[in-house]
Amino acid sequence: MAQAQGSLTPLERNAFQTELDYRKTDLFVLRNEQVEVAITNYGARIVSLLVNDREGKKTDVITGFSSIQEYLEADEDYQGAIVGRYANRIAKGRFSLDGTAYVLATNNAPNHLHGGLKGFSNVVWEVLESTDTKLSLFYLAADGEEGYPGALNVTVTYTLQDQSLLISFEATTDKATVVNLTNHSYFNLNGQGSGPILGHTLQVAADRYTPTDSTSIPTGELAPVAGTPFDFREPKKIGAAIETAHEQLTFGGGYDHNFVLADSCRPDLTLAAVATGDRTGIRLEVLTTEPGIQLYSGNFLKGKHTIKYGLKDEHRYAFCLETQHFPDSPNQPAFPSTVLQPGDTYRTSTVFRFTLA
Ligand code: GAL
Repeated sequence: MAQAQGSLTPLERNAFQTELDYRKTDLFVLRNEQVEVAITNYGARIVSLLVNDREGKKTDVITGFSSIQEYLEADEDYQGAIVGRYANRIAKGRFSLDGTAYVLATNNAPNHLHGGLKGFSNVVWEVLESTDTKLSLFYLAADGEEGYPGALNVTVTYTLQDQSLLISFEATTDKATVVNLTNHSYFNLNGQGSGPILGHTLQVAADRYTPTDSTSIPTGELAPVAGTPFDFREPKKIGAAIETAHEQLTFGGGYDHNFVLADSCRPDLTLAAVATGDRTGIRLEVLTTEPGIQLYSGNFLKGKHTIKYGLKDEHRYAFCLETQHFPDSPNQPAFPSTVLQPGDTYRTSTVFRFTLA
């Protein structure tokens, strides 16, 4: 039953308590005075994130579902999930490493997307540590799982600090492999399901982006954003230029592109993007150590699903800012490397910080 926007019915924990592949799923709530975030270990997904708007009204800014069952039925959107082993696309599901060719599922024909058929978003993660402000989850991806080489031990830790949610990843492997991990939350800073995100203001700290072919695989070029609809160096509405007749926007059905933040991973968290809800004044700052960020304007959302509070995931009712290495890096030697060697540790982190405009 549809409910008035803003009536935040609490999530029912037992709707998240089930068993999949002999592993228990649950819902974990991290909270402090500024932020309350609910996470399930099914896909290590953020289910909801509550912050106050400028009138002091609690607002849920992340799209999600009210039960595990609904995630199982609607998994193609990667709502709130950790995606891997390789977030984003790998051309034709093929890459070579140290002279061996690997074949992956082409689950987003003709390409491989977000780790394959189940990836990391449709598996149950083991709970390593759970406190009021911290949740640490672990997944062991077997050697050969989804076609990737190497057994990969992955830990994602969500930590609440003041008005920030820190997401940190660590991974190790027993064979050379490729790794690219991100959190795939869909934001609507006016409240999830409350309307299109086109009136949100966005700023992205990138003067280049990676244009793609018609199947969203980068051409290899790092193109300047200057003079294009991809110029978010100054704050601008997401909708300001989204309908411009520009080949890249046609290919993506809107924004679905990687912005170049840096030439390689950075040791420190650096401001990558700032988005502001025009109706609530809720401002999201994304800081990351990653060299890239994918702006996805919710082009494939079609109102097919009922999300929390009885609302719908209509076209462009949410956007993603996925911190990452560049798409198709395993086939693009000029891009920052995504290869992880045995003995090395993959470490990246991203912060979602909430303030008021
Ligand atoms: C995004 C990707 C989009 C689409 C979406 C899931 O990360 O860039 O092309 O696949 O995930 O629907």
